[in-house]
Amino acid sequence: MIIGIDIGSTTTKAVSIEDGKLTRKIKARASDAVTAATGAFGKIVLENGIKIDAVERIEITGAGASKINNDIFGIPTYRVNEIEAIGIGGMFLSGMSNIIITNIGTGTVIIEAGERGIFHFGGSGVGGGTILGLAKKLLPTAELGGIMELAQAGNLKQVDLLLGDITDTGLSFLNGESTASNFGKMLDTAGSGDIALAIINMVYQVIGVLSVFAARARNTGRVIVTGNGSKNQIGQKVLADISAMYGIEFIYPEFAEYTTAIGAGLSSN
Ligand SMILES: Nc1ncnc2c1ncn2[C@@H]1O[C@H](COP(=O)(O)OP(=O)(O)OP(=O)(O)O)[C@@H](O)[C@H]1O
Ligand SMILES: [Mg+2]
Repeated sequence: MIIGIDIGSTTTKAVSIEDGKLTRKIKARASDAVTAATGAFGKIVLENGIKIDAVERIEITGAGASKINNDIFGIPTYRVNEIEAIGIGGMFLSGMSNIIITNIGTGTVIIEAGERGIFHFGGSGVGGGTILGLAKKLLPTAELGGIMELAQAGNLKQVDLLLGDITDTGLSFLNGESTASNFGKMLDTAGSGDIALAIINMVYQVIGVLSVFAARARNTGRVIVTGNGSKNQIGQKVLADISAMYGIEFIYPEFAEYTTAIGAGLSSN
């Protein structure tokens, strides 16, 4: 058995891989990388009654991986490049190759993965962390559940400048409902729900459009969306609108929040 651990900027994920298959998964949180790695390892082992002897090796990746320089509890421990891990995990979970993978974590990274190899296409600091950070100063709650609840009742017309606000004719493939400027209107009557929705909308519009440009640049019509941020229901709706507008398909594999950890576990280090 191989244990893959992804020490992300916000969350740590651990998975077990046996005979090339994903068998178990857990999430953990800790304030430092060593506690995160040992804690996640302890959690997956204890919660599943795994015998330590059965663990052949540990593969660590993610932002915190560079802080782990020794074997964990005497088990051979290796570091895996995070881009490689996301590429391997994204191809495994989607069962597809020659794809763009957009990993929405605290920030966002865009990767191309296929027969030619796995490459870092680019990315953006706009991600899940942006939603939480803006919420801290702009909303009465900075907790994701509360932000989502507020956003359910939000109205973008209170916050965003829409094309219909400034022109009667639309612009090429854009119509009156398309965004001309995120936060570009901000009426005095804008409430917390409107702002919550506008924050999520802006984050996923940025991520969606960057993903579309990456997909077009690499002649593919498919983007695999991974990371905890891929689970955001409102974000998925924003991406669906972008999909309709640009003709690029966004695909959400099951267990996508474990993509990076799975890729580490499957890497042939
Ligand atoms: N259930 C959820 N639905 C939607 N978004 C979520 C959920 N849980 C966490 N998030 C968002 O996902 C972000 C963390 O995602 P993830 O755990 O993939 O990042 P990470 O791996 O720690 O960070 P990075 O990959 O950028 O180093 C948080 O900022 C939060 O906004
Ligand atoms: Mg991550």
